[in-house]
Amino acid sequence: MSSQDKHRGSWTGSTGFILAAVGSAVGLGNIWKFPYITGVNGGGAFVLLYLLCLAIVGLPLLIAEMTLGRLSGKASFGTYTTLAPPERGGRSWGGFGALIIISSFFLMSFYSVVGGWTIAYFVKAISGEFGPQASSDVPAIFDNFIADPVQGTLFHVLFMGACIAFVMRGVSRGIERASKIMMPLLALLLLILLAHSLTMPGAGEALRFMFYPDFSQLKPTAILEAMGHSFFTLSLGMGVMIVYGSYLSKKSSIFFSAAAVGLADTAIALAAGVTIFGIVFSAGLAPGSGPGLIFVTLPSLFAGLPFGSIWAVLFFLLLAVAALTSGISILEVSVSFVVEHLKISRQKVTLAIGAFITALGLLSVFSFNILSDITLFTLHNGGDPKPLNIFDTMDYLISNWALTIGGLGAALFTGWAVPREQIWNELKGDALGKTGFTIWLSITRFIAPVAVVFVLLHSVGVF
Ligand code: TRP
Repeated sequence: MSSQDKHRGSWTGSTGFILAAVGSAVGLGNIWKFPYITGVNGGGAFVLLYLLCLAIVGLPLLIAEMTLGRLSGKASFGTYTTLAPPERGGRSWGGFGALIIISSFFLMSFYSVVGGWTIAYFVKAISGEFGPQASSDVPAIFDNFIADPVQGTLFHVLFMGACIAFVMRGVSRGIERASKIMMPLLALLLLILLAHSLTMPGAGEALRFMFYPDFSQLKPTAILEAMGHSFFTLSLGMGVMIVYGSYLSKKSSIFFSAAAVGLADTAIALAAGVTIFGIVFSAGLAPGSGPGLIFVTLPSLFAGLPFGSIWAVLFFLLLAVAALTSGISILEVSVSFVVEHLKISRQKVTLAIGAFITALGLLSVFSFNILSDITLFTLHNGGDPKPLNIFDTMDYLISNWALTIGGLGAALFTGWAVPREQIWNELKGDALGKTGFTIWLSITRFIAPVAVVFVLLHSVGVF
């Protein structure tokens, strides 16, 4: 290891890398967002679109981002400014790199607010708020909670503080150690809840809802949402996997790591979906109730179960942990950029950026109370206009548009800007083989960009 590598930090091995990447991928996207957007979009047909996007675009791009990072050995901006020869864009790709760093601030700012909700619900569960007496007041608990700017701020600050604490400690001592303990715990907890949900009367209906596609249920925005979410859930389009790849040793297999991350992420999303809809249908609740789905419906159910408080504590602990390891990765995007370009210590940089994002996040906290009257624009979704507050607007613009464009950029950069031999050199020892490499590169060059452009054009109403 050269002294420069020592300064940057690295994973202790393949397992550490895979767990950290799984930690980034598995988060609120899997457990909070995937079930609720599946519910809003009518179930099976949306799940199918999402799985298609994952297979055709998501997984190849995951390999692409990890490869870019390991090849350059730099964070995302450094990767975009150094890998392309002048005749293929050269340093001007840096503009694109800067754009994704800026959007990572916004993503982190609202992600942390929902992360704060999970900590708040964990605390509420411990203090017995979801005991047997609570069943009827649970929706009110959520409404009152988000209507309170003080609590919202407090838990957002707590969540940011936790992310800052881990990122400050650096790659292997902070991020990797957090994921190594937390990810296996998360999988275990989810398995217990899934087994429980499968014994409930609504399990059959939940499986039918998730896996039987009814295309008449799809909303016009479903396809952009499915594509955007396939990027969101794999942490693509914002340079996270580039940065994580840059800490990876040349000995580890990128193909194998990406496949493991993709499988674990998909398995956890589907398991969370089945668990949550099993509970929803058993209780006769509506699947399409939106962002409050897990915060409103689940505690009502926990309240009615024997040992309900224990289920609630376990569930929200799981969710907070999943959110934390993802939040850490979003924050790492901008911290790694500054650490690489300025000679300032990681601790100071993390604190400064963390404080800035915490302040920015207040806009999202206040979207549900002080600033709830502000509608930035109205989304027309098949005759069903939806006014977007500040939080909704950031989520919509970043999760759907910025990530999709970020992913398109990563695909074009890998496929057309970086010289093919360099990429081949990086991957030739890998499990892909020559044929696998050629297939993957063709997908990255042609199929993924065409699919993304198709979805974007469809979304602006071109066809
Ligand atoms: N993948 C995480 C989730 O599903 C969120 C996340 C972490 C993310 N890093 C990201 C999303 C980078 C987009 C880009 O919750």
